[in-house]
Amino acid sequence: MCSPGRRRIWPAPSKAPRQCAARWPSRQDYDRALLPQPLAGPRQRRTPGGRFARILQSGHYILGANARDFEQALAHRLQRPKGVVALNSGTDALVLALRLLDLQPGDEVILPSYTFIACFEAVVRAGAVPVLCDSQADDFLASETEVSACIGPRTRAVMAVPLFGDASVIPSIAEDCRHRGIPLIEDVAQALGARARLQGQGWRAAGTLGDVATFSFYPTKTLGAPGDAGG
Ligand SMILES: Cc1ncc(COP(=O)(O)O)c(C=O)c1O
Repeated sequence: MCSPGRRRIWPAPSKAPRQCAARWPSRQDYDRALLPQPLAGPRQRRTPGGRFARILQSGHYILGANARDFEQALAHRLQRPKGVVALNSGTDALVLALRLLDLQPGDEVILPSYTFIACFEAVVRAGAVPVLCDSQADDFLASETEVSACIGPRTRAVMAVPLFGDASVIPSIAEDCRHRGIPLIEDVAQALGARARLQGQGWRAAGTLGDVATFSFYPTKTLGAPGDAGG
């Protein structure tokens, strides 16, 4: 800013004529800054960044056509004919998946001891008893061996959690659950995009191996939303 009237002593002012580069913003400057600016022109709108900008500009962040498009795209990608439902968080997706099972007090749900706290919390919120099975020492995942060791007469569901994008343990857990008639919930919060090999059936996407799958789109996840989201 220029402050006419005050003399600078050090460093010595240059001999060149002084030019005032900055000025206090005027009322019009503020008004102009507050006007909505176009975030993307028609060409950029076709790029992923432009599409994102268009959604921001529309103000339709929750539900509506954008969420519907996403549900359809994910259902198509996962080839889930029963579809995908966009929710507010991965934690609530787990609670809703468990509530579908009409759990009664004393019913048990098996889940890995090494997982995110939301898995445990969701079982408690759904009114069931969490039974923690061991996780393997080398990859920290609970495999079919650890899960089946905990199955008992009160087991009503198994929650399998492919952590760190590693879904390799899911096919054998799914096979065992199918064999015993126990519903399998896949918590794919950390493994959207991962695949697992099924014996004799090639590769299948994580989230398509159990009876119901839940995802998280928290910003740190494999696909993150700005804010919180899940499905
Ligand atoms: C394995 C696992 N399950 C569930 C969740 C909960 O997801 P959200 O943060 O969207 O509630 C997380 C999130 O960190 C997770 O890592």
